[in-house]
Amino acid sequence: MTNWKEIDRLAKSWVKEAGQRIKQSMKEKMTIETKSNPNDLVTNIDKETERFFIEKIQSVFPDHHILGEEGQGDKLTSLDGVVWIIDPIDGTMNFIHQKRNFAISIGIFENGKGKIGLIYDVTHDELYHAFQGEGAYMNNTKLGKMKEVPLEESILAINATWITENRRIDPSVLSPLVRRVRGTRSYGSAALELAYVAAGRMDVYVTMRLAPWDYAAGCILLDEVGGTYTTIDGKPLNFLENHSIVAGNPAAHRAIFDEYLPHE
Ligand code: IPD
Ligand code: CA
Ligand code: CA
Repeated sequence: MTNWKEIDRLAKSWVKEAGQRIKQSMKEKMTIETKSNPNDLVTNIDKETERFFIEKIQSVFPDHHILGEEGQGDKLTSLDGVVWIIDPIDGTMNFIHQKRNFAISIGIFENGKGKIGLIYDVTHDELYHAFQGEGAYMNNTKLGKMKEVPLEESILAINATWITENRRIDPSVLSPLVRRVRGTRSYGSAALELAYVAAGRMDVYVTMRLAPWDYAAGCILLDEVGGTYTTIDGKPLNFLENHSIVAGNPAAHRAIFDEYLPHE
């Protein structure tokens, strides 16, 4: 039998320890490299943090699988068994430019079902955490069930990319939605944006492309507060694939599909 309470206890302690290490490393000079394009950044701290988690997990749970953004974990083709999906630093651009508004994001799954979600805002010492069936929390404060907020009163998390010329969506599709809502915000960390939606600080998040490590933990938080998430075609997410995502309170999610995103 998998001892999920023990996994939860260890995962939280490792996340806090990794956060301390990141804070310490931030005082030193970091090495910055680019990945797929000049704006896709990675630092030595992203890589070292991923390695830290892999070593910890492998030392205690050698049969668990690990999918990490920086590729030092396993090459996974299925979610069978226990799988940790890790983004060691989500919001690397913020981390480099601002030294804030980034998070460690970890989703832990059992045979494809989300069990534990952890999103740790290191600079603010805010740990968003969820355990399947036991609700979601920010530090010791339990997050309430999501409210059904009409679009007119909603804050929409969206990156300006998706309402200007881009490769993934006609800007005229989402710009009327931007005009309809009360306001928009963009924080530059998908994990934090999903945590903020789960915490009711924003109501809905729309984005055209995220990787599993960006959204895995956030979706587990949303499950615990009654949030809804699908692709922009209204389909369920496959946690091993990149996806567009519409996530938020069920009413706002439904209204967006009824009024702005026609689908089958
Ligand atoms: C990025 C952030 C950003 C999102 C990008 C992600 P990274 O993750 O979550 O908010 O818009 O799509 O790649 O590269 O900082 O881990
Ligand atoms: Ca990320
Ligand atoms: Ca990252």
